[in-house]
Parts: sequence; C-alpha cells; structure tokens
Amino acid sequence: MILQNIKIFAHRGSKGTHPENTIAAFQKAAETGADGIEFDVHLGADGELVIIHDETLDRTTSLTGYVKDHSSQELKTGDAGVKYAKKFTGERIPFLREVFDWAKGNDLLMNVEIKTDKLAYEGIEQKIIDSIRHHQMEQRVILSSFNHQSIEKVKLLAPELERALLFEGLPDNLEQILRDKQESGFHPDKNSLTEATNEIAKTLGYKVRPWVANEEADIIKLAKMGVDVIMTDFPEMALKALKSWQANG
Ligand code: G3P
Ligand code: CA
Repeated sequence: MILQNIKIFAHRGSKGTHPENTIAAFQKAAETGADGIEFDVHLGADGELVIIHDETLDRTTSLTGYVKDHSSQELKTGDAGVKYAKKFTGERIPFLREVFDWAKGNDLLMNVEIKTDKLAYEGIEQKIIDSIRHHQMEQRVILSSFNHQSIEKVKLLAPELERALLFEGLPDNLEQILRDKQESGFHPDKNSLTEATNEIAKTLGYKVRPWVANEEADIIKLAKMGVDVIMTDFPEMALKALKSWQANG
C-alpha cells in the first residue's frame, strides 16, 4: 500500500505485536498491508544465514550463547516465540533461505540488515548475495548496514543490488559522506533526521527511510517531511495513522 508515496516497513517484522524477526511477525506485516519488512542477518557456525537481531540467542530465544557458535541443526531446536508470549511457542529462528521461500507468496519489499557492526562475519556479504540471486529476490531487497564497509563490499560484489547506509546519530560531515559513497538509501534514526538533512539526502538522490517511529505524532511528522519509507514496530497503527492524515489533509 502506498500513501502519497510513503511506504511502511515493519521493523523486525512487526516487533510491537509479534516476536521480532520471526515468520509470524513477517506474516503479520503482510496481512496488515505493509509495503515491506526489515530484518537482521547473522552468520551461524556452519555458514547458515540466521535471522535474529542480537549476536547472542539469549534475549529472544530458548537457546543461549553466540549465534556464530551454533550449527543450523542446533539453531533449528530454538524457540523464538515463547519469550515474547506463550501463544507464540514453537515459532522458529528463521534462516534467510526460509524467509525468501516464504516471501515467494507475497510481494513485500525486504530490508535486509547485515549485522556486521559488532562481529565481522567473514564472507557474510557474498553469502547473502548468493542467497538473493538463488531465490531471484534482486528486485525486492535493500541491503543496509551500520558497517559501511559491508555496504562497500556489496557494491563491489553485486552493484545491481539496492544498498543503504544506516546511521545512529549523524556525523558532522554527513553531506560529504553521502556525496562520496554514492549509495541510494539513507537510513537515519528518526530522532536525528531533520528537515534540512532530509532535503540534503533527497537532493543527492537518496531515498530516506528513518527508523523507528512508533508514535502517531512521529509518523505524521515524518510523512509531512516527505520521507520515502517509515519503519515501525506497529505497521497496522502506522497505516491507519497515515490514512487518517491523508483523509483529513
Ligand atoms: O534498520 C533499522 C534498524 O533496524 C536498526 O536498528 O537495532 O533495530 O537493528 P536495530
Ligand atoms: Ca535492524
């Protein structure tokens, strides 16, 4: 659904109402009419691409320890739903290939965040690219990372894929960075984004996709600013808020 060209992406699926980074959360986003989902990718011990936010399993799953130290067989035994709510017991930790298989049943865009800001995960960029190509998802993914070297690698390995620079806080030399990098997506945290910064990024040809707006007032503020995508934990609420703003505006 597109409202005045503003798209809604469900952050970590629909994190506000469902266990983050699970198929249940992604399915909820699809059902509410979101335009896309955002999710996070790490690398397991045997090279499996694992959809989870943290480097460790403890906060969101029934397992413990680092994702990088677990094989896919071990990760398959983990429960990614029960800690969120009992009714989500049995929800699995998804692998990227499973998300892409699931995505064949819908047309959601997918913002794949490469989580290399804390651990390097040697070779993860190529593995993600291989999976995107294998599943023919080239037109549906945006690869982003706080680690801009990962985005540089993707640019070299797969220049045809859409890429975005993630920021938490904005550097003084942002304009220069955006000019130098010549990427197409600018993903700032919503509190750092100003009208002026939005204009600078737009003028340089960037799509602006702030994260994460969960209050109606913030969503309308970003919509008025003219951002391209709003990432939110509550896509259903965000879509309602945008519709109502549009109807009354
Ligand atoms: O991609 C935007 C946002 O997801 C970055 O923050 O911590 O939720 O991965 P985080
Ligand atoms: Ca993320």
